[in-house]
Amino acid sequence: MATKEKLLALFEENKGIYISGEEIAEKLSISRTAVWKGVKSLRSDGYKIDAVQNKGYSLSVETDIISVQGIEKYLNPKCRDLSLTVFPTVESTNAAVIEKASAGAKEGLVILANSQTKGKGRVGRTFYSPTDTGIYLSILLRPVHYSAQQAVKFTTMAAVAACESIEAISEQKTMIKWVNDIYINGKKVGGILTEAAISLESGFLDYIVMGIGINVYTPPKGFPPELSNIAGAVFSEHQRDGKNRLAAEFLNRFMAYYFMRDKESHVEKYRKRGMVTGKQIDILSKEGNKKAYAKDIDDECRLIVRYGDGTEEKLYSGEISIRLS
Ligand code: BTN
Repeated sequence: MATKEKLLALFEENKGIYISGEEIAEKLSISRTAVWKGVKSLRSDGYKIDAVQNKGYSLSVETDIISVQGIEKYLNPKCRDLSLTVFPTVESTNAAVIEKASAGAKEGLVILANSQTKGKGRVGRTFYSPTDTGIYLSILLRPVHYSAQQAVKFTTMAAVAACESIEAISEQKTMIKWVNDIYINGKKVGGILTEAAISLESGFLDYIVMGIGINVYTPPKGFPPELSNIAGAVFSEHQRDGKNRLAAEFLNRFMAYYFMRDKESHVEKYRKRGMVTGKQIDILSKEGNKKAYAKDIDDECRLIVRYGDGTEEKLYSGEISIRLS
């Protein structure tokens, strides 16, 4: 770890607490000048570091900048094998992880960004990913002996983990719009895009890239007009460490479900939050739009729908999207 990263880790671990320059220098085995240079550099990255004579330096509790060190301090030991990188900006964290995955990267690679210029959504849509206000995170998974159709399991796991983590750190009640949208008070606050590659040899999944975007705060100038009636945010006010905490809560919960994937089902928790079942819906696909009644979600997380003529179908997420009628 470079000096700056070590310094940030120390400050994040001791947020709001003053540490003398001497103590920092000793702990990190660096000179006092190196401490000062590191502080200066962190300040230029936006970190508010207070300096008081005879007390030392302290990272302000108000600072809410997403970073590896900021997330790692909240991660459970079970997540210790994750390899996190945070970029200021990328086109798409999913695209960044896919690139690494096709070059053979290991399961557990996690890429986050403070903004995305070409955030990808489902069915060819874009995901609005402004600077400083959201979490944009993708994780590489290599589950063994899973078919492409079973990939929905990981999307739905992520949806449950996202809802639970939002509820753990806010007063909000979350809902899931099948299959991948997280809602609070009728507004979409997050979405999940799972992309996969199939091994031609085995026919099973080679890897999965599970990407999640969460609007933690409303962007300072609001959402663009085309989203203003649809999109919402988890918090209406700035929170202490809101983004790092939420990202870590999500990873802790998601990985716990992932590790238990063949032993326990998360589906009941998914159903409980469903906002589509029991409602009339429009099914939008390349073939056209159809009206149906959303009857239930089965154990494979398929949506069971009933059409006007009484016939029933089980829908995979694929290229379909759902609108409440
Ligand atoms: C959707 O709402 O249709 C899914 C949105 C998924 C957005 C996330 S943000 C992190 C990851 N990288 C991307 O390019 N997309 C996903």
